[in-house]
Amino acid sequence: LKAKYLGAIAGAGDEATLEQLRLQAVGKKGEISLKMRELGKMTQEERQQAGPALNALKDEINSALAAKKAALSDAALDERLRTEWLDVTLPSRATRQGTIHPVSQVWEECTAIFADMGFAVAEGPQVETDWYNFDALNIPGHHPARAEMDTFYMHRAEGDDRPPHVLRTHTSPVQIRSMQEQGAPIRIIAPGRVYRADYDQTHTPMFHQIEGLAIDRDISMANLKWVLEEFFSAYFGTKVKTRFRASHFPFTEPSAEVDIQCSWKDGTVVVGEGDDWLEVLGSGMVHPHVLKSGGVDPNEWQGFAFGMGIDRIAMLKYGIPDLRAFFDSDLRWLRHYGFSA
Ligand code: PHE
Repeated sequence: LKAKYLGAIAGAGDEATLEQLRLQAVGKKGEISLKMRELGKMTQEERQQAGPALNALKDEINSALAAKKAALSDAALDERLRTEWLDVTLPSRATRQGTIHPVSQVWEECTAIFADMGFAVAEGPQVETDWYNFDALNIPGHHPARAEMDTFYMHRAEGDDRPPHVLRTHTSPVQIRSMQEQGAPIRIIAPGRVYRADYDQTHTPMFHQIEGLAIDRDISMANLKWVLEEFFSAYFGTKVKTRFRASHFPFTEPSAEVDIQCSWKDGTVVVGEGDDWLEVLGSGMVHPHVLKSGGVDPNEWQGFAFGMGIDRIAMLKYGIPDLRAFFDSDLRWLRHYGFSA
């Protein structure tokens, strides 16, 4: 019996086999347990012989089982250590990193340049009431500017009597909101998304503007010209001249369209040299009606405002001919212009 079990235990290859052997030998119904139960039927003499022998055998088998079990788990651990390992010196797999979108980069850059000149950032909603987008800016209901703006109107269900809302067509409504919130004096820029139903090489239905507003007791067009020339020179990294052309906006009087100095080279435009001009923004002295809409007294305060296309000046800086490509999310395009890894 002893040889049989010790031999089998030594030869067991895994823990399951070992457990089988334990049950067979010393389990409740095991061979040795059954033999021990037979001790009762023996004579005193036989029992004194067989009892200690069986007990010793049981101990011996138990310790053989325990030893084998420990050996098996040691072997299993060795096997895992041998097969499961990492080469920590291997180079890692390449991951592609996203980058900031060119429009966002230019947005942030503009904000930083104006911040250096003391302009704070203001914000307004993209879904705007037609009062803020038009009326408050001196564009009454019948005014042709409303039609020209290709406005997206928000649908109103019948019986919905909330005021009409539009997707803002420009960032100028932020002028009104900031004046109402802060009063005068005020010096803010308002970068943001604006919407017009328009689509071609230089127009997308969503685009970005940056509004500027400076109001104090004696602000003039001269301050406007200085601020813009400072801005463009910082933005393009070279001295940029501006040209003011008389124009008309309902919310400024007088109004001017501003061109920046440039030249054309092989079909692309270079800013800050030559004697061509490129229109980049609308501006003027804030109309008294607009000051009133914002709760600012036109007898005490005056100031300038301007509105500029962020995407437009991004195209100029990077020599991008088609505005629509900005919003196509084409990685090949982004990589070509160095906007993505
Ligand atoms: N809001 C005008 C536009 O979108 C730009 C502008 C802003 C003009 C401020 C004058 C003053 O075209």
